[in-house]
Amino acid sequence: MNQSEMSAINQAAWNTGAYEAWVIENGTPAHLAATLEPEKILKRVLKHLGNLNGKKVANPLGSRGKAGVAMALLGANVTIFDLSESNKRYALELATAANVKLEYVVGDFMQLETQNDDFDVVLMELGILHWFMDLNALAKQVHGIMNTGGRFVVNDFHPIASKLLSKTQTQTLADRDYFDSSPHSGKVPYQGLIKIETPDCLTRCWTLGEIVTALAQNGFQIETLEETPGWGFDAKIPGLFTLVATAI
Ligand SMILES: C[S@@+](CC[C@H](N)C(=O)[O-])C[C@H]1O[C@@H](n2cnc3c(N)ncnc32)[C@H](O)[C@@H]1O
Repeated sequence: MNQSEMSAINQAAWNTGAYEAWVIENGTPAHLAATLEPEKILKRVLKHLGNLNGKKVANPLGSRGKAGVAMALLGANVTIFDLSESNKRYALELATAANVKLEYVVGDFMQLETQNDDFDVVLMELGILHWFMDLNALAKQVHGIMNTGGRFVVNDFHPIASKLLSKTQTQTLADRDYFDSSPHSGKVPYQGLIKIETPDCLTRCWTLGEIVTALAQNGFQIETLEETPGWGFDAKIPGLFTLVATAI
């Protein structure tokens, strides 16, 4: 399985019903725009992003555009890269309703031509690294779109929670294989919101060591690795991590 094959499978899944799911979850784009508070949407990463006013920001895998529009409202020039036309529709309607400009490029982020880009900040957040078959290639690709000295902020589910632990009604068990490197089939996260059946998608989860090493070996200086509780498990268990790195 290579990245192009994986992305084609995932594009078919994410093109099915995403717009409809976001309307069910967040209301229409106009409704979301009227209630969207940028600081609240970005609360997990805001302190790491710095002053966004006038900055050129990339938001790969930016989905329905919540973080992208929030950053645009704080003065950034934002470009989202994402596989899904259905997400693009919601994001652009959200940007129009919020009265901000948003660029949205549909396609596989790994196929993007990176020569002429010069982003100051790249934000990737919440359910992102497992869509990639090769983290070294991803780190190189992100580095390729950035200015030297630019900041890369990755906020994702902690591998302890996403790879190792499972939960029964009464117990948390460490009964999965943390080192499992095989791709897995599953459903898009919004399947439960809509009636139509989406095609299966394919993901490959990474250990924390693999994530940090991929950045450190592909042009980034690691500044911060923050581990915090998330959702689903109690506050004694790492649920999310935020990795901040500088492009060197
Ligand atoms: C779980 S969402 C990311 C969450 C999003 N940042 C948010 O907070 O709403 C995953 C997104 O990744 C996109 N995606 C998956 N693989 C991709 C790829 N190779 N290139 C570009 N986008 C991809 C999907 O279309 C989907 O919108």
